[in-house]
Order: sequence, then structure tokens, then C-alpha cells
Amino acid sequence: MKISASILAADTAFLGKEVLELEKLGIDFIHVDVIDGHYANNFGFSPKTVKDLRRITDLPIEVHLEILNPENYVEIFSEAGADIIIVQFDTCSHPLRILRKIKALGKKAGVALSPCVSFESLRWCLNDVDYLLFMSVEPGFGGQNFETFTIDKIKLAKVQLKEMGFSIPIGVDGGVNLGNINLLREVGVDIVVVGSALFLNENKERFIFQVKGG
Ligand code: DX5
Ligand code: ZN
Repeated sequence: MKISASILAADTAFLGKEVLELEKLGIDFIHVDVIDGHYANNFGFSPKTVKDLRRITDLPIEVHLEILNPENYVEIFSEAGADIIIVQFDTCSHPLRILRKIKALGKKAGVALSPCVSFESLRWCLNDVDYLLFMSVEPGFGGQNFETFTIDKIKLAKVQLKEMGFSIPIGVDGGVNLGNINLLREVGVDIVVVGSALFLNENKERFIFQVKGG
């Protein structure tokens, strides 16, 4: 499985240093949560953070828009250097329009499904989706507990994706740790987004090794 490091859990006083350290240890993506204080009562990162990280790392940067009206902010994050832009499906009034806008900017278009938003609602957009992110917590905060029913949701979605002939990479975001990593591997998750379990870990190298199937 690939690892996307969610920097919401980083010590932002040393953000660049932490990202470079993780890059050396073999993580695969940098995950930047953008939270606007409206969609959830928290704040995340800005385009400036993306731009600054873009300067120091070659890792792909995924921007996770946990904001209202995401269609207004796609260009600014694209210009800042995001490689993948992920929108919360429940915030998109015109999903096809925003997904196509992201792709027209030459970026990968990701869709995140909140725990209680069904995969069914998304199926008609799948031709325009490059990455499917299953939220295993309500979006907006790091350090929450993994909702175990997400496993069943992913299993069902995998079956449907196969029936429909799609092979879209699947990620999981929220509460991922060594206690649920094997379950996620078993159901065929491709990418795990990890915040607290990685950044607060005293032995990051070992954690990364274990997640990657060591
Ligand atoms: C939650 C964010 C996640 C979060 C994950 O809204 O989208 O990316 O930072 O953090 P942990 O791994 O601590 O749940
Ligand atoms: Zn996220």
C-alpha cells in the first residue's frame, strides 16, 4: 500500500523538515487538508503552504478540499502546484463540472466520500474520477477514531467498480493506524492517508515499513 502523509498532524513549526524527512523514508504523497472554518469548525492549510512545499519536494501533492464552494478554489491550488485535487462529494453542487475543471487544468481529480455518503450517488460520475477517497471519519479534524463500517462500504464499492469495469485507485482517510491497516490491505485499498499515527510516531521508519507490507 502507498502512504500519503497528512500534514495536519505535523508540527508546523518544522513542516519543511518533517516533509523532507518523510520523503527520505519513502512515503508516496503529501496530503494537504484545506479546511475553511465553515464546512467543518477547523482550519487547514492555504495555497501558500502548497506553493512552499512544492519548492522543496518532488513528491506528488494532493490537496483535500474540505471547504464549501470548492469550485471557486480549484485554480488557485492548481497554480500553487497541487498534482491531485480532491473534493468532498457532498460539497459539489455540480460534480461533473468541477471534476472536469480539475482535469482541464492538467491535474488528477479525486472525490472524497464522507462516512455516511453512499458510493451509489457517485457512480454516474466515475468516468471523470481519477481517485476515490473513502473518509473513515467525519472530515475536518485529525486524530479521530476510524469508523469500522467503512470497510464494508469499500468492499461493496470494489464489487460495483469491478462490475462496471473501473479500476480507479482507492484511498482511505481518517483514523488509519496499525490496528486497521491489515483490514484495509485485505479489502484492496491502494493508498492510506495517515496523519496522527505517522507524525506522532517515535519510529516513523518502522511504521512506514509496516504499512508498506514489511
Ligand atoms: C480529516 C482529514 C485527514 C486527517 C487524518 O478531515 O482529511 O486527512 O488529517 O488524520 P488522522 O490520521 O489523524 O485521522
Ligand atoms: Zn484529508
